[in-house]
Amino acid sequence: MKDYKRILVTAALPYANGPVHIGHLAGCYLPADIYVRYQRARKSDIKFVGGSDEHGVPITIRAMKEGITPQEVVDKYHAIIKESLAAMGISFDIYSRTSNRVHHETAAAFFKKLYDEGLFEEKESEQYYDEQAKTFLADRYIVGTCPVCSNPNAYGDQCERCGSSLSPEMLINPHSALSDAIPVKKKTKHWYFPLQQYESWLKEWILDGHKEWKNNVYGQCKSWLDNGLQPRAMTRDSNWGIKVPLPDAEGKVLYVWFDAPIGYISATKELTENWVDYWCKDDTKLVHFIGKDNIVFHCIIFPAMLKAHGNFVLPDNVPANEFLNIEGDKVSTSRNWAVWVHEYLKDFPEQQDVLRYVLCANAPETKDNDFTWKDFQDRNNSELVAIFGNFVNRSLVLMHKLCKGKVPPLHKDSMDEKDAALLKDIADAKTRVEESLEQYKFRDALFEVIDLARKGNKYMQEKEPWIVARRLEENPSAQDLIDNSLHLCLQLTANLAILINPFLPATAKKMLHMLKVVEKMLDWENAGKTNLLSVGYSLREPQLLFRKIEDEEIKQQVEKLKAGLIKPAADTTPAAAAEPVSLKPSIVYDDFARLDLKVGTIVKAEKVEKADKLLKLEVDLGFEIRTIVSGIALHFSAESIVGKQVVVVANLAPRKMRGIESNGMILMAEDKSGKLHFVSPDTAVDNGSGVS
Ligand code: MF3
Ligand code: ZN
Repeated sequence: MKDYKRILVTAALPYANGPVHIGHLAGCYLPADIYVRYQRARKSDIKFVGGSDEHGVPITIRAMKEGITPQEVVDKYHAIIKESLAAMGISFDIYSRTSNRVHHETAAAFFKKLYDEGLFEEKESEQYYDEQAKTFLADRYIVGTCPVCSNPNAYGDQCERCGSSLSPEMLINPHSALSDAIPVKKKTKHWYFPLQQYESWLKEWILDGHKEWKNNVYGQCKSWLDNGLQPRAMTRDSNWGIKVPLPDAEGKVLYVWFDAPIGYISATKELTENWVDYWCKDDTKLVHFIGKDNIVFHCIIFPAMLKAHGNFVLPDNVPANEFLNIEGDKVSTSRNWAVWVHEYLKDFPEQQDVLRYVLCANAPETKDNDFTWKDFQDRNNSELVAIFGNFVNRSLVLMHKLCKGKVPPLHKDSMDEKDAALLKDIADAKTRVEESLEQYKFRDALFEVIDLARKGNKYMQEKEPWIVARRLEENPSAQDLIDNSLHLCLQLTANLAILINPFLPATAKKMLHMLKVVEKMLDWENAGKTNLLSVGYSLREPQLLFRKIEDEEIKQQVEKLKAGLIKPAADTTPAAAAEPVSLKPSIVYDDFARLDLKVGTIVKAEKVEKADKLLKLEVDLGFEIRTIVSGIALHFSAESIVGKQVVVVANLAPRKMRGIESNGMILMAEDKSGKLHFVSPDTAVDNGSGVS
């Protein structure tokens, strides 16, 4: 292994087009933060940089959807994201943004250097163009019917209903999302990076040189490299982004995947005058934490750019995680199937460590994993509360009871092999946690910490100092045994604080307070030591580190998720929204036109078992009978609504509720008192009539 002098850690720059969800945390921010906190505790020279990715189609699409400018989009979400990450304890040395000046200059200069060296190939190609809006259209801006599932609102790059990858050519009835015009092909000029020239170098560097990279990362690189690399356009037609720094490049900006990774460099520049040390010296260890959809950009494209530019270090590792699903389903921000970090923090204030714990214990390190609220509750109640918290609490309570609130002495002569075994466990845990962290195996590392607490509980159970205390009157020397067991339990507690600190920093802080020691104790070099608390030192009364999470809280979260009540943006209109709402951001006509509203007649209605709010309806839409699950059971009896004409959102993506697939939504008016009323035509009309 190479001897590094300093470490530079980056975490993928999230698009500032929406808040962050727990998949983002599990994918890269949390592992990056754990690694950084561990290295800081080791006194490594380390910097942790991040920021918002504020360019590209994800931003302009969001601006179009919300009817605001791209700048307004990034200002809004940059602030939300930054706050959520900080509240979760993600301890960036700098959290910057790519719309700022340093970045624009840095990225433009990077491009210019490659251009001046004649690296880029200039090529004309045909791209889709909107003659009405007078602009080229990125694939995302072209909508049409999905050839696979007939979703009428598929995008030119992907259908969000069935998940198929598409190209604009594949869409039936393609039209521009901006103006509805039919896109035409038009010539445009772009600058291409000759990735193919770097293929053999990349093969050597990654396939031969970095066999230690995680299997999922190495495997993806290998498959890209085996398939052969193609020149890649590094510019786009758009007016949002970093202007191509060339004369005669009106309306052209840098491709977002060209500029964004350079954002790591710009952020470091902003952070420290010594940025060159971190980026240009061979003895820097550069580590990129990302999610799996970013692998090709961080392992192939960005390194090739750095190599082409020269003078930059290359990543030593790119420990990418796979995806975290939610309750068995892929995260989808457009379907609002996600657990939003800012929402979590509202519902579980001061409990960022619980989420950190669950996301690390269940991190998608080698394969996609599932987050469920039940597992969240179980891990909290049976691991944090019952193992870790319980051990710490018992140690302190018993010390107050049996040792007068002071750290008792260790009587060496009365030590037995259980005491010796515990000392060894403490020393071993340190080594194991360290080894796992150095290899980016965060779950294993966390498991070792919990396992040490588990051993502590077992030791305490075997030593039973509270039982020994009953013998004190007839045998005063039994105090030695009590002292020894609690002395060791307290030293173990101090070790747990050090070891848990990278994972659960707020918990470690609370432990410091109880132990009345300063932060310095958390230095990693203290791990494994068993003289951290001095004999005779008086400690505080314990406070509980974790609280039990009740079934009711979990039930509420599951319901909230399922009802789609979390609104990151004006994306979804859940049935029977409970709260009085102010006006949502304005939309363009096109947003409205994407709704397919139809009149139908309820032909059957029945209660959904074990769900007091839900009715299962069959609605005749003229051309078909639809099953729709509606949250109106508290307002109407099933019998009373059969025969009623209603307005249905007919193209709402299907959603499972209580195991029943609901295909659409019924429009309801809600009055001030919260009572619901059907929205119906004022005289009977044919089923299937359109509403506009
Ligand atoms: N914004 C991208 C995403 O969310 C990640 C960019 S990482 C960077 O997928 F390296 F380009 F900054
Ligand atoms: Zn589809």
